[in-house]
Amino acid sequence: MKKNECPYKVHLFICVKTRDDDRTSCGDGDSLQLKAALKNEIKSRGWKPHVRISDTGCLGLCEKGPNVMIYPQKIWYSSVTPDDIPEILNTLESVIFV
Ligand code: FES
Repeated sequence: MKKNECPYKVHLFICVKTRDDDRTSCGDGDSLQLKAALKNEIKSRGWKPHVRISDTGCLGLCEKGPNVMIYPQKIWYSSVTPDDIPEILNTLESVIFV
């Protein structure tokens, strides 16, 4: 095993978990649409060397989804909708260009 330094300033995790039963999941919301829109914005702004965006399984706060975590800054957005994308991008920008 080799220990490496994280190559990104920011890693954004979007829960896209879906379930086959009646429990609430982030995938019930717009999480896949959110991920696609954020990826497009990050690419068009030239932030790809600084930001990694990954979908993830359950983060444990399913009732508050869709959930988006930003690490290592420990920022957590809940009940995210596409209308929140500008605020998330503003946060990313403030973290990347400090
Ligand atoms: S399904 Fe997203 S936090 Fe549990």
